[in-house]
Amino acid sequence: MSVLQVCPLLPSVERALTEGYQAVRLFERPGFLAAHGDEVVAAVTSSRFGVTNEQLDAMPKLGAIVHFGVGYETTDLAHARARGVVVSNTPDVLNDCVADLAVGGLIDAMRRLSAADRFVRRGEWNHPLATKVSGKQVGILGLGRIGRAIARRLEGFDMKISYHSRTPVGGVSYQYVPSPVALAAEVDVLVVATAGGPATAGLVSAEVLDALGPAGYLVNIARGSVVDEPAMVAALVEGRLAGAALDVYADEPNVPPELLDVDSVVLFPHIASATHETREAMGELALRNLRQFLTDRTLVTPVE
Ligand code: DGY
Repeated sequence: MSVLQVCPLLPSVERALTEGYQAVRLFERPGFLAAHGDEVVAAVTSSRFGVTNEQLDAMPKLGAIVHFGVGYETTDLAHARARGVVVSNTPDVLNDCVADLAVGGLIDAMRRLSAADRFVRRGEWNHPLATKVSGKQVGILGLGRIGRAIARRLEGFDMKISYHSRTPVGGVSYQYVPSPVALAAEVDVLVVATAGGPATAGLVSAEVLDALGPAGYLVNIARGSVVDEPAMVAALVEGRLAGAALDVYADEPNVPPELLDVDSVVLFPHIASATHETREAMGELALRNLRQFLTDRTLVTPVE
């Protein structure tokens, strides 16, 4: 009975998988599934790689897919369920860091921090004025655990917060807006914090970007798929958006080359959860899920 490591993972997780489970490293043994797929009972993967349907179908005894990361859109959940395979992710432990990065990106884009840094490094000094952050109106698209963590932080900047999600969220005082277009039209900054996957693909459409308008800022710490990327790139290049902070892209690690020279855009390499503390916590939770599955076939944090 084998545990499969689908892709490279955090070194401490890789060590635990190798030492504790003699996990097979699929990315180093691409022929393994064809020969030994029927030995695998659990697969550990990342949000970025998931488990493809082809891989899943090559593992008839697979019982669990354990994701390192909160996102799991790279795994076909319906297909896994149909096969009786349970799926876990690592929710909550990364909320703080993802929310911190969203706020950092928001301030960076509006106050032009990275642009000002480049300015100084070029030997210049009299930097153009930026946009005030405190007191502005912010719209959060997707008020889940991460969206709420972002909202709580922005309350500290006296920002007026409204949101759109599939249905209104109970227990919050933020104003619910019934569509992404209506939300974008009434805010200074739109922060994308939804899950990825087909249900949210292209939610931030050209129409939403037009509604945000030339004074509006976009922050995306969710998934590149949520935004119509060509429309966003065109709007930023043509100045039909004031600026953006982006941690995620449609085709990572490929960043649209047109954005590289756009000074109003802050580009991060998908680092929202990338701190020592949070990645270790994600690793521990992934390993707890694996351990529990192998003990009693249940998960600590199953994807519902
Ligand atoms: C996640 O957990 O899905 C993040 O995007 C990975 O950093």
